[in-house]
Amino acid sequence: MNDHPLKVEHHNTTSDGGSIASKDYEDRYFQDNGFDESKEVYIDGNDLEERWESFSGSCFTIGELGFGLGLNFLTTMHCWLKKERSFNLDYIGIDKKILEKRNLVLLEEAFPNLKKEINIFKECDVVGHNGFECISIPDLKIRLILVTEDVQKAINDICISNIDAWFLDGFDPKKNPEMWTEDVLKAVFDLSSSDSSFSSFTSVGRIRRALLENGFEVNKVPGFGTKRHRIVGRKFEENKKSNEIKKIAILGAGLSGSNLAFNLANSNIEVDIYDALDDLSKGSSGGPIASMYPKFSLDNSPRSKFLIASYFFSLNFYIKTLGFENTGLLFYGSDEIKDKWISKILTLRRDDLFELLNDDELEDLLGVSEIKKALHVKKGLFLQPLELKKKLLEHRFIKIILNEKFVSFAEEKNKVEVHFKSGLSKSYDALAVCTGKGLKDFNDNLKVSYGQMAGISNKDLFNIKMPLNHQGYIIPKVNGTNWIGSTYEQSADFKKENIEEKVKLNHAIFGNKDMSYEIQDLWEGERVSAKNNLPIASKIPGAKNIYCIGGLGSRGLSYAPFLAEIVSSAIQDKQIPLGKEIFTLLNI
Ligand SMILES: Cc1cc2nc3c(=O)[nH]c(=O)nc-3n(C[C@H](O)[C@H](O)[C@H](O)COP(=O)(O)OP(=O)(O)OC[C@H]3O[C@@H](n4cnc5c(N)ncnc54)[C@H](O)[C@@H]3O)c2cc1C
Ligand SMILES: C[S@@+](CC[C@H](N)C(=O)[O-])C[C@H]1O[C@@H](n2cnc3c(N)ncnc32)[C@H](O)[C@@H]1O
Repeated sequence: MNDHPLKVEHHNTTSDGGSIASKDYEDRYFQDNGFDESKEVYIDGNDLEERWESFSGSCFTIGELGFGLGLNFLTTMHCWLKKERSFNLDYIGIDKKILEKRNLVLLEEAFPNLKKEINIFKECDVVGHNGFECISIPDLKIRLILVTEDVQKAINDICISNIDAWFLDGFDPKKNPEMWTEDVLKAVFDLSSSDSSFSSFTSVGRIRRALLENGFEVNKVPGFGTKRHRIVGRKFEENKKSNEIKKIAILGAGLSGSNLAFNLANSNIEVDIYDALDDLSKGSSGGPIASMYPKFSLDNSPRSKFLIASYFFSLNFYIKTLGFENTGLLFYGSDEIKDKWISKILTLRRDDLFELLNDDELEDLLGVSEIKKALHVKKGLFLQPLELKKKLLEHRFIKIILNEKFVSFAEEKNKVEVHFKSGLSKSYDALAVCTGKGLKDFNDNLKVSYGQMAGISNKDLFNIKMPLNHQGYIIPKVNGTNWIGSTYEQSADFKKENIEEKVKLNHAIFGNKDMSYEIQDLWEGERVSAKNNLPIASKIPGAKNIYCIGGLGSRGLSYAPFLAEIVSSAIQDKQIPLGKEIFTLLNI
């Protein structure tokens, strides 16, 4: 396979103890006394600790050109953790190469004082993929957004101009000129907040002049270690204060609405979440079981980048924030197309994510010897959507209002007035519409399909240890029942023979042909998808503070937490964890 989001370039390093250098650029990542250099040049060069003391916003954003081995990030974390902070820290690290665990081992040896920060970073389980990878560490109020692209593309892909401090840390401009072009330096200024700052180890005249011409105030100061000079600078512009959102209404308590509610409530925003149904267990997000869907695209298209970013962000959220277990998933090459897909995925050589299991291993996981070629997707899970929604909505900042059908809204000045069928009207700072099929009122490009799942409770059948995807899926027993899904139907006029067909197929695959089975339980729901096969996460056109999430199709679990992060970032004027190009494709 040519380019793919999971096909990454690693740093080509050489090390002699304290100093780590790049073989490609014949330059060092940092000087011998790297921690002191990082602290003096970047933290103190931007007056970070002092500025944090008096910062009045809700999120301070740092942008780094040349994330490299992450030393500056770790040093920043070290200083951030010295105190309890009342606001959040976003750190956007741009680099065209990926940081690997073995790089962190080198840092551990060189910087024993950063052991705690390195351990926190290791725990994050960074996947390492091209494009935007968003890593949230909510307990520390830190969000790291790694942008793995060439700097020019990366910087053009950043959505919001709110960067409060820049670390300009490419290699030596003479050896690495593409990191320091006029276009890049102009973008640095344009993406800066009104009182932003920058600092850099270099003082090369061309760079100093470009930053000055763009509008920064630039100062040449004594350099660190072997460098004679370095530069620091500030931007001073009138502050355009945006309107702060304190209370929001969410319409629809499905996977989309519940994830958004949790995300916003965790940012101390008060949430009222409404649903027309009278019980959280009803509706399309009330199914008995759901599994993540790891069928990634095989190209480097925006959709492919979205699928990867969304899948791994969402998985990490379920595991790290909500405490669900990573079970892994199996993908069976049950026909030629799936077989080819598996072969191509294996050419990515991401042994950390995918492996082909041998026959014995498969038999152990599935209890039968008939299944021969199945891919083990090491990161993935299945869960009960109702349990998930309850975990998300049990939050002191969330109020659930059921049996309340919304009919219209109106925006006036900075408020949104929401009207319900019961006659209730309430005013909010913002509104998010997550009404599934209801979003068709705003976009006739959405289509609805219907589906069924079957529950089978036979203790001698389907004793699998991991979900298996093939033509549909089968999930390990939960409370004694295996769920087999799912059908795709054009109307809500469900045909029982369709789901019976799926069950028969599984029965045939699993080879227990002599053992009979019976469908004990059936579940029916609807899926809403957009024609471009991507979900929706955007503002409602023409509105100021009205957003929407929808069109999750069959991938509700793999999308909902990521779409919530995107919309929550937009609501709070924070960086969107996704490139501009892809974000535009998620418009309603
Ligand atoms: C058979 C089947 C199997 C599936 N299996 C999986 C799976 O294994 N893994 C997976 O990831 N996904 C699966 N899905 C897809 C998943 O269920 C959906 O992607 C997900 O539920 C969509 O969530 P949502 O919140 O966007 O929409 P919904 O769940 O439809 O939520 C919208 C909510 O808005 C409410 N609402 C609508 N209009 C109004 C109004 N006017 N006022 C107030 N409230 C309103 C509705 O009552 C509803 O509760 C499956 C779907 C089906 C049908
Ligand atoms: C001096 S090192 C950064 C050290 C890093 N700040 C740290 O704390 O470990 C410079 C980095 O710039 C990256 N780089 C060089 N050219 C680039 C380009 N054109 N686009 C993106 N990154 C680039 C290199 O991969 C390298 O990691």
